[in-house]
Amino acid sequence: MSSIPSQTQRILEFAVRLAQEAGRITLEHFGKAPAAETKGDGTPVTAADRAAEAFLRQRIEAQYPQHGILGEEYGESRPGASIRWILDPIDGTRSFLRGVPLFAVLLGVEIEGWPSVGVAHFPALGETLAAGRGLGCWWNGRPARVSEVSQLRHAAVLTTDPVLLLEEPLRGGWERLAREAGLVRTWGDAYGHALVATGRAEVMVDPVLSPWDAAPFLPILSEAGGRFTDLGGQERLDGRSGLSTNGWLHPQVLELLAP
Ligand code: IPD
Ligand code: CA
Ligand code: CA
Repeated sequence: MSSIPSQTQRILEFAVRLAQEAGRITLEHFGKAPAAETKGDGTPVTAADRAAEAFLRQRIEAQYPQHGILGEEYGESRPGASIRWILDPIDGTRSFLRGVPLFAVLLGVEIEGWPSVGVAHFPALGETLAAGRGLGCWWNGRPARVSEVSQLRHAAVLTTDPVLLLEEPLRGGWERLAREAGLVRTWGDAYGHALVATGRAEVMVDPVLSPWDAAPFLPILSEAGGRFTDLGGQERLDGRSGLSTNGWLHPQVLELLAP
């Protein structure tokens, strides 16, 4: 790496600090039975989600006033900017509400439309996964790498809510995949994608995903040697679904899941 940090590297380092600072805000509320409201889309939100996103936006706007921001709780600012931050202040709000530590602060940064930086920070676990295009993927400062498992019968397959996969047209594909897998577990939300990127699981399937749920995982999986696509096999953040694998298993999983 050159001694002059690239733009991507500077943004990555800033994003890691921000995610960890926002994580501290979430921990002030975690385990204290925070009150939740239900949003228009039926998902819960707490004062912690709003405080963490407000903090992130204020810090990004102070540092990079020309950058755009898309956040789950406060929407889009400066649409059309060449660099766009995509924020999920708390991914796994349902875990957070129940005192389960598998929630994350997610930050993704698109540069000229290309997902280039990703940070997934798990405040209650003390885990940070961070990647920049061409800069590698790092897990608490050590290189993160997907597993080498190339057979589904040895693979751990994860999802968030299996009920969603038992609806048509996904049901048949999910049943085929689950039958062939060595292990199926619901270590879901962002943590499922993080487990794949760090070689602790091989496949994470989520049929319902927004751009802020997906944003960090395109750079994270590709820099860790794996793949992140939607369930149609496209590398995109707005495909409304997500599939992370260690790369070896990606074609087979897409084929099995195809309706
Ligand atoms: C949820 C998680 C989950 C996905 C849902 C999201 P939230 O995020 O990312 O994995 O399946 O669609 O709503 O609401 O906890 O930030
Ligand atoms: Ca989310
Ligand atoms: Ca959220």
